[in-house]
Amino acid sequence: MILNIAMDGPVGAGKSSIADAVAAKLGILHLDTGAMYRALGLTAIRRGVDLADEQAVTQLARTIKVSVAYDVDGQRTLVDGEDVTGLIRTPEVSMAASAVGRYLGVRKEMVALQQRLAATTPMLVDGRDICLRVLPDAPVKIYLTASAEERARRRWLEMQQKGDTTPYETVLVDLRARDEQDMNREVDPLRPTEDAVIVDSTGIGFDEVVEQILGIVKEKYHE
Ligand code: DC
Repeated sequence: MILNIAMDGPVGAGKSSIADAVAAKLGILHLDTGAMYRALGLTAIRRGVDLADEQAVTQLARTIKVSVAYDVDGQRTLVDGEDVTGLIRTPEVSMAASAVGRYLGVRKEMVALQQRLAATTPMLVDGRDICLRVLPDAPVKIYLTASAEERARRRWLEMQQKGDTTPYETVLVDLRARDEQDMNREVDPLRPTEDAVIVDSTGIGFDEVVEQILGIVKEKYHE
């Protein structure tokens, strides 16, 4: 059986770095599905596609080829063969990713692609709809969260380290706006599925969260 782990959670819960660490410990790949929505959002911005135009965005999702590759630094994300990994972490692309993710046609394309990847390769897949839609049969499902204030604080510290002087309040407002968009969209809104184990990382250190998740994986595999 292919070892697939499904992980969902809101923005800034530390999913990406936690997923990287857990996947590395388990010797499997980490598929960051947010990067795929970001790649589409970036392409829409670059081509001047109106993010509010569902048909145009869906058409774009069907036309471009989003793919992933792996090197020593982890996942690279490509659009029609162009490596866009370094271009998709801006606040503008974050909001665009969240906006394009509202559309059913877009989600169908992305989910199908992610399922194809996970069907042949052991992966920890992280995103917003992984437990519900992408890997509904995954033997291990995790919902990683933390309070909005803590998530914003972590994001703000990260930004400060990169020399970004955006105030904390702005980061918190942006994070709440994205939560609102991701949790209240019509199609597969973000929420924990009944069979997911909720891990709340508020006030818990990185290593401890990784250990908790590894513990959950071990437990599930011994069931
Ligand atoms: O995980 P992230 O912050 O990189 O994701 C960016 C956006 O992409 C997120 O705000 C919503 C969307 N997304 C989604 O709709 N479904 C996923 N499985 C992953 C991300």
